[in-house]
Amino acid sequence: MPGPEEFVVTPYEVRGRIDYDKLREQFGTQAITAELLARLRRLAGGELSPLLARGIYYSHRDLGALLDGFEHGRPFFLYSGRGPSGPLHTSHLVQFELCRWIQERFRVPMYIQITDDEKFWARSGLSREEIARWGLENLYDILALGFDPKRTHVFFDSRSIAALYPLAIRVARKIPYSTVKAVFGFEPSTNIGLVFYTALQSVPCFWPSWAEGKEVPCLIPCGVDQDPHFRVTRDVAEGLGYPKPALLHSQMIPALTGDGAMSTTGSPADAALFLDDPPAVVERKVRNAFTGGRATVEEQRRLGATPEICSIWALWRTRFAESEAKFQEVTAGCRSGSLLCGECKASLLERIRPFLRTHAEARERTKAWAESTIVTEAPRPL
Ligand code: TRP
Repeated sequence: MPGPEEFVVTPYEVRGRIDYDKLREQFGTQAITAELLARLRRLAGGELSPLLARGIYYSHRDLGALLDGFEHGRPFFLYSGRGPSGPLHTSHLVQFELCRWIQERFRVPMYIQITDDEKFWARSGLSREEIARWGLENLYDILALGFDPKRTHVFFDSRSIAALYPLAIRVARKIPYSTVKAVFGFEPSTNIGLVFYTALQSVPCFWPSWAEGKEVPCLIPCGVDQDPHFRVTRDVAEGLGYPKPALLHSQMIPALTGDGAMSTTGSPADAALFLDDPPAVVERKVRNAFTGGRATVEEQRRLGATPEICSIWALWRTRFAESEAKFQEVTAGCRSGSLLCGECKASLLERIRPFLRTHAEARERTKAWAESTIVTEAPRPL
């Protein structure tokens, strides 16, 4: 077991209190500098997604080079994904919200991978059918964020395998077992599906280059826990004749219960706000959520609270503060003690309710076209 200062971040396990500066050093990724943010803002037409402006995306690989290419007329594509094992919660949206924003601003294609094999191999006790059903349900939620149907393509692993497999064969041959064993900490008992899996998660990075017969750079917005997969991908890219994918890493969003990251499996249902939670459940979860507040009102008025450890502040930060002014108001009020946790939660609830309602409506509308985005054929023989 790790001590209080230790933390673990891999695609299969996130544990402990993460020190993001240390993690950046450990993983060898780059910080998102003020210059890079200014450049993104300029290229995006003068605005910045709150997810970037508020530092939720805090690290990257090769973003500068990707933008150099873009400015010289070389468009890139976006890639992100979801390993279905249950309903989505609000922090699952973070990577896709950034993708949607970039797609809109940069007018680039988006590839979404729904890995209905991965969580069957990795951990969930669910059946194949249940996982595939969650995959489709999750896809509706993702598309409902406002992806452009003409520029959005989906690899649904079990249904897209004929499109993915020719490339997966080549990727898999480049990855020695010793690499995945070291990167993911596989044990002798790990099933062989997971040993192969990184090859499948790598394929979308190269697929458009294969389809178009020329180098198309890839940008992957994802939780930092996914970086280990793409380190492997980047190591094999050149040997296969494809560009290394660039990455944008987000922090993990804290659980409402105050222990670790929001997650579908392994934590109590109250740790996350699911998109299909009924209003009474949302209300209960928010009211009971862990905050950075003090033990008494008097103390909080006198000493102020701590937004950085607060799960409610994290929700304002990721999505629910619609403007920078609102975000600053909440943050300053919290720190100074002028805003008490009860008031803060009540005003957050006022924003969560309409968000969930609008989202549910948008999701219904995607059902008519979601399946048409699923890629089922290889572009050509490889
Ligand atoms: N492994 C991811 C998960 O557990 C799913 C995924 C597949 C993904 N391809 C991706 C995530 C690309 C980010 C980027 O949910």
